[in-house]
Amino acid sequence: MRVEPELILEPMVDGLLSDVLAEPERLSTMVEALGSPLNVVVPERIAENAEKYRALYQTHRLRGRTYFAHKANRSSALIHGLVAGRCGVDVSSLGELRHVLAVGFTGDRVIATGPKDAEFLWLAARVGAVVNADSREELAELAAMVARFGPAPVPVMIRLSGFDSPGVPILSRPSRFGIHTRELDAVLDLLDEHRDVLHLLGLSYHLDTTGVEEKALALEGCLLAMHRARNRGFTPTAVDIGGGFGVNYLADRSQWENYTTELGIALLGGRPPMTWQNHGYGLRAEAGTLRGALGVYPAYREVSGPRYLDELLSWESPSLGRTLATLLLENLYELYIEPGRGLTDQCGLTLARVVEVRTTLNGEVLVRVAANSHDVSTEDHAVLMDPVLLPERPGTPVGVYLTGNLCLEDDFLTRRRVTLPREPAPGDLLAFVNTAGYFMDFAADHALMQPIAHTVAVYRDAGGWSWCLDEQYWPGKGDSS
Ligand SMILES: Cc1ncc(COP(=O)(O)O)c(C=O)c1O
Repeated sequence: MRVEPELILEPMVDGLLSDVLAEPERLSTMVEALGSPLNVVVPERIAENAEKYRALYQTHRLRGRTYFAHKANRSSALIHGLVAGRCGVDVSSLGELRHVLAVGFTGDRVIATGPKDAEFLWLAARVGAVVNADSREELAELAAMVARFGPAPVPVMIRLSGFDSPGVPILSRPSRFGIHTRELDAVLDLLDEHRDVLHLLGLSYHLDTTGVEEKALALEGCLLAMHRARNRGFTPTAVDIGGGFGVNYLADRSQWENYTTELGIALLGGRPPMTWQNHGYGLRAEAGTLRGALGVYPAYREVSGPRYLDELLSWESPSLGRTLATLLLENLYELYIEPGRGLTDQCGLTLARVVEVRTTLNGEVLVRVAANSHDVSTEDHAVLMDPVLLPERPGTPVGVYLTGNLCLEDDFLTRRRVTLPREPAPGDLLAFVNTAGYFMDFAADHALMQPIAHTVAVYRDAGGWSWCLDEQYWPGKGDSS
């Protein structure tokens, strides 16, 4: 099959991950010993990433805290990578809270977000974590618990949603989380009743969107809500804007643009299908026209991570007439952020061994790996990028489908045909890079009693790199500490 260069989506790789990929024989031995799939994490990198967010605070002369959204990855090594620095952790379950406490975080560096059951609330309150409340019911439960068991007062934030735009309407997507801004007064009434046990530290939002405008509207809405709370005699001091600053996954902008253009052409029948059964990622052809919307993550992003946050803070509020950073500064508000994906950028990869290569009757090459679509869940998150085939060898590029080890018709690691530099052979490795944010263990399960990946941590050592089991990593490993 002829492979066109416009179908390549080369991943962005840098830092220690590049050095790791440069030693395929060593990786092969590791997979031999520990099994496929195998996750590799880079704890030093998450600490460096956290410092980049911190530097941005200095640029805008803001004070506040960065909390790593733990849900992005279960690794202990990544949490260890942060514990010696100044970053906190955002935990969304009792298990995550116990995990960070065991690694060495004190409660005052933790914020508890998301839906919470009684045990989670109890431990969060007990260790002095900030409780970012999701509902009035949760606040009432917390107040009753603290009144009975202490210690009071517990610092709380209120997660808001449903921000109304003054002037030109900006779509603010509905969320099942948080308290609608129109219910703020009722929540303040409740906090009024429980002033002895709950202390309103601030207001928050988290929006699952890449749109800066939508986030700016929400931040502005929080600032206005802070004002309302102060008018009621509360003294909130922090605004928490959640995460969602994003990652750039691809090395080349034109590859991304070409690929998405060609996908539309393929769906319209203008070229051979590029996806399994002409899957359209949200697009479909109807009477010669493309309908729907391309529902994929913008894998190539000029502005992501700290630069995205910079853009948000530099956004001029149309109704308040100044940048959002200036408004925070003028009010002496602290800024809290909870990046997950953004902090894990270049912090890990997942290795999978090639088990079988076969050609179907209609000429499609199917490459089956010892891993499945839950082990590398990029497709779930609609992130399109090619894996790296190891070892590098001369050959002719080939378009293949990557299938998994589950006895399920739709167990494809990706539903698009990926272009590899040569035909793979059993025993080769595929490295899926930049999987540390949500793709390596968020969805991993034991379906069909297949093994889930072990995780190892790599760190700089003796001019190269060394590795250890995830749970054995601590920041004193290696010679860069
Ligand atoms: C409350 C909250 N904060 C932070 C995050 C992290 O978002 P991201 O990984 O996109 O930065 C999430 C993700 O779901 C979240 O629910």
